[in-house]
Amino acid sequence: MKTEELINTIPKAELHLHIEGTFEPELMFRIAGRNGIKLKYNSVDELRKAYEFNNLQEFLDIYYTGASLLTTEEDFYDLTMEYLKKAATQNIVHTEIFFDPQTHTSRGVEFDTIINGITAALKDGRGLKISEAQTGISSKLIMCFLRHLSEEDAFKTLHCALKHKDKIIAVGLDSSEVGHPPAKFRNVFEAALKEGFLTVAHAGEEGPAEYVWEAIDLLKVSRIDHGNRSISNPDLINEIIDREIPLTMCPLSNQKLKVEKDLTQHPLKEMLNKGIIVTVNSDDPAYFGGYINENLTAISDALSLSNNDIYRLARNSFTASFLDFKSKQRMLQLLDEWV
Ligand code: HPA
Ligand code: ZN
Repeated sequence: MKTEELINTIPKAELHLHIEGTFEPELMFRIAGRNGIKLKYNSVDELRKAYEFNNLQEFLDIYYTGASLLTTEEDFYDLTMEYLKKAATQNIVHTEIFFDPQTHTSRGVEFDTIINGITAALKDGRGLKISEAQTGISSKLIMCFLRHLSEEDAFKTLHCALKHKDKIIAVGLDSSEVGHPPAKFRNVFEAALKEGFLTVAHAGEEGPAEYVWEAIDLLKVSRIDHGNRSISNPDLINEIIDREIPLTMCPLSNQKLKVEKDLTQHPLKEMLNKGIIVTVNSDDPAYFGGYINENLTAISDALSLSNNDIYRLARNSFTASFLDFKSKQRMLQLLDEWV
């Protein structure tokens, strides 16, 4: 089978996806229209042309502006459902979705409005028709704290989440990395762990390998989101291998935000060959020019990945997931039967 066909059809999980980053311009215009908001762009094309970034912060400024259009439960439902429908066409059978409550609560949107809209769509997604053989997308939700805000603000958000514990599997950490190390959030992550949440954190995207150490040691993360900079530190790489900490990598994001000079320089294949549980994900697909299959194709072309590498990446996506043991075994079996 040709690699591209394999990429498009193989069953897979997505583990690093910001729901606000799936906000396509077409849906922005629709939601702005029904909420009586006038966008400063005249067309979808004009808006898309603004998506040129030199670093993470330039992206975040535009991403938060887009997200500020979301106000009602219906908005969060539609945003999530559009992503799930797209995911189904790419043979994603399980997805773990980040959401950023502080981006919305700071504008007066209620925490419950956000989570109720998202989880209603996730529930309906479980019944989505994927193919003749496969019905429904399973999903988990991960609540991210914005690291440019204070730990006190993160505590307030954690407090709001407690009555929705059954809907949230883990807490994470995103937004502007440099200058906001994991150590800033050690207390709130400790509290989240005590409440039974798993933990993940963006680390080593623009920040140094030291931030990845901190995420592991202080925040007790089950996975690292991105983790590119780990490659500069052999001791850290050995630790990641020994502790079997997966990395959720996002090639097109790294290219668009200039985290890597060129995709041919991307550390994914070296990491895969060292035995690290690396996965490929889309991060903010509406902004970075592709969903999971376009990410797999881009990195496969840049690093000349083999069909067996693609299989290993799909396998890793299930292994690294927060599915319970039985569901994980079922999905791994589904993958192997498919292969
Ligand atoms: N990095 C950090 N924060 C983010 C990202 C990212 O790639 N996308 C959305 N929030
Ligand atoms: Zn991310």
